[in-house]
Parts: sequence; C-alpha cells; structure tokens
Amino acid sequence: MNILVTGGAGFIGSHLVDTLIEAGHDVTVFDNLNSGRKEYIHKEARFCQGDIRDTEALDRLFAGTVFDVVFHEAAQTQVSYSMLHPREDADVNVLGLINVLEHCCRHDVKKILLSSSAAVYGNQETGLADETIPVQPQSFYGLTKAAGEAYAALYYRMYGLPYAVLRYANVYGERQESSREAGVVSLFSRALASGTAMTIYGDGNQSRDFIYVKDAAAASMAAMDAGVPSGIYNISTKIETTINALKEILMYFAQIRSDVIYEDARHGDIYRSVLDNGKAVQTLNWRPKTKLLPGLMTTFSYFLGRDER
Ligand SMILES: NC(=O)c1ccc[n+]([C@@H]2O[C@H](COP(=O)([O-])OP(=O)(O)OC[C@H]3O[C@@H](n4cnc5c(N)ncnc54)[C@H](O)[C@@H]3O)[C@@H](O)[C@H]2O)c1
Repeated sequence: MNILVTGGAGFIGSHLVDTLIEAGHDVTVFDNLNSGRKEYIHKEARFCQGDIRDTEALDRLFAGTVFDVVFHEAAQTQVSYSMLHPREDADVNVLGLINVLEHCCRHDVKKILLSSSAAVYGNQETGLADETIPVQPQSFYGLTKAAGEAYAALYYRMYGLPYAVLRYANVYGERQESSREAGVVSLFSRALASGTAMTIYGDGNQSRDFIYVKDAAAASMAAMDAGVPSGIYNISTKIETTINALKEILMYFAQIRSDVIYEDARHGDIYRSVLDNGKAVQTLNWRPKTKLLPGLMTTFSYFLGRDER
C-alpha cells in the first residue's frame, strides 16, 4: 500500500516507517524536522519536508501521490511546553490535524491512524484506564490530544473517513529525544551514560505504563487493517512502574549510582497512569512482546556513548 507518515522522522514515527517498509509498503514521510531527524528516516522512504500547518505544502503532497493510508504522528509532544504555550500546542495538534483530516477526505484516503496519549485520561486514582472511561486531561497537551480524537470521530461520522486512535502509554526505546523534555527512560539513560545527575520531578512514586517502541509500532500497523473497526485503542502493557523503580533498574544496568535530584512536580504532569490494553489485544491480534527489563537494557545500551545534538 501507499502510506503517508506525518512525523515520520520522529521517535515513534521512524520506527513505524521501518516496520511498514519491512512489511513491503511504499512510505512517504512528511515532517518539519522540529524534533525529528533526517537520519532516522529509512532510506527507502520518500521524504518531504513540510509543516502540517501549511495547507499549500499538504496540497502539493497529496496532489503528487495517492495515499491509501495516513499515519498521523506529527505533533507538539511536550506537556510542559503546552502549559506555557497553549496556543502553539493547539495550532499544531488541533489545526494541523484538521488540515491532515481535510486532505484525507478530499483525496479519498481509506483510513487515518491517529496517535493519541494516556494524557487524555488525566490522573487515575485506582485501577486500569480503559477506553470507556471519560477523558479528563490535566494538561493542554492532553486536551489537544482529546480534541484530536473527537475531530477524527466526527470526520468519520460526517464524511465516512475510517480511523483508529492509538492511545499510547509511555513509549520508550531507541531514538527517543533526550535533549529536551522527553521520555523519562531516555533522559535517565542519557544521564547515566554521561555521568550526570538524574532529575526526578515530584516524589518519584508517580507511575507510568512503559511500552517499548517497536511494540507500539506493531500495534499501529495492525490497526490499519480495514477489518479493524473505527475507534479508540489503548496501546499499553497494563504494567505499572514507578519512576523510583525505573531509576533503580537503570542504575543496576549501568552499574553506576548516579546522583538523583528531586525537584517540584511539573505543572500538567499526571501522577498515576496505567492503561488496560484488552481491546487492542482482542481486536488488533496484537500483544506487547517486549518485557520491561530487556526493553530497558536495549534502550540503555543505545544511549551509552551516543552523541547528542
Ligand atoms: N513518546 C511517547 O511516549 C508518546 C506517548 C503518547 C503519545 N505520543 C504521540 O505519538 C506521536 C509521536 O510522538 P514521538 O514521541 O515520536 O515524538 P517526536 O517529537 O519524536 O515526533 C514528532 C515528529 O513530528 C514532527 N513535527 C512536529 N511538529 C510538526 C509540524 N507542525 N509539521 C510537521 N511535522 C511536525 C517532529 O519533527 C517529529 O519528527 C505524537 O503524536 C505524540 O503526541 C507519544
């Protein structure tokens, strides 16, 4: 199939592109390289540099190729940035998405796969969050992700554009950005690899559901099947790990006891997050294959000795 991946130079997008190409698809990447890197793009993918807020660039992109499926990974992805710059966050995550949805409808794309986030749930007191519970974002990032989901659902109802929302838990793995606000696994790995202190925001007992990036990419690819009903799918492991436990595991792998600095919790960060993946496991014929320890080991090895820009 002919597939477009917006944000395909980024962390998750580039792994997804690799997975799609390995499965024999023709892939085009559209990315403004804001946080993505050209060297992450598979050499068999076509690359168009551009911004999803630029409708003329999207006109040219869609005029040149007929896409069967679009994966929308491009986004403003930083929670604290969204708290400081809610307008820019909405510009990319809502208005940029609308541009992509419009082009999908106009050019008869068969399905759009939209990346969303556990941030839409907000804080969870108890239990596993499943797709039926009401969303209660507590950051502007979570809010724009929830809005994106609602836009995709309405484009489906109004214009018949099939969709699947992938609500990713905390994705970690190789190529995750570690020089800005990023995934905690890449930040801790980089700190250990460079012998600097690890910073924990809050008391460290906050938890996340960590899923390895290749498992997230495999779930996204499984969701593009036409037989998968339009709707929302949590992509997670159902396993809760605290940030303090994560720190200990990585220090054990590194065989280094790094300094740990505890700072105030960041505005917009959620405390507890763990997602039920039952719907994805049943419907997508998928399950996460990578256990946390080997996944962390692979990721830490990747960051060891790596140059950062
Ligand atoms: N990493 C996670 O743990 C996680 C968790 C939940 C959801 N997500 C979602 O998954 C998607 C991918 O996230 P990621 O972690 O790979 O982030 P990333 O920053 O590595 O990737 C985003 C990509 O989008 C590109 N981009 C940003 N703004 C753009 C714009 N205006 N026009 C064109 N390209 C643009 C960036 O250059 C980058 O290549 C995002 O939608 C994010 O919200 C990620």
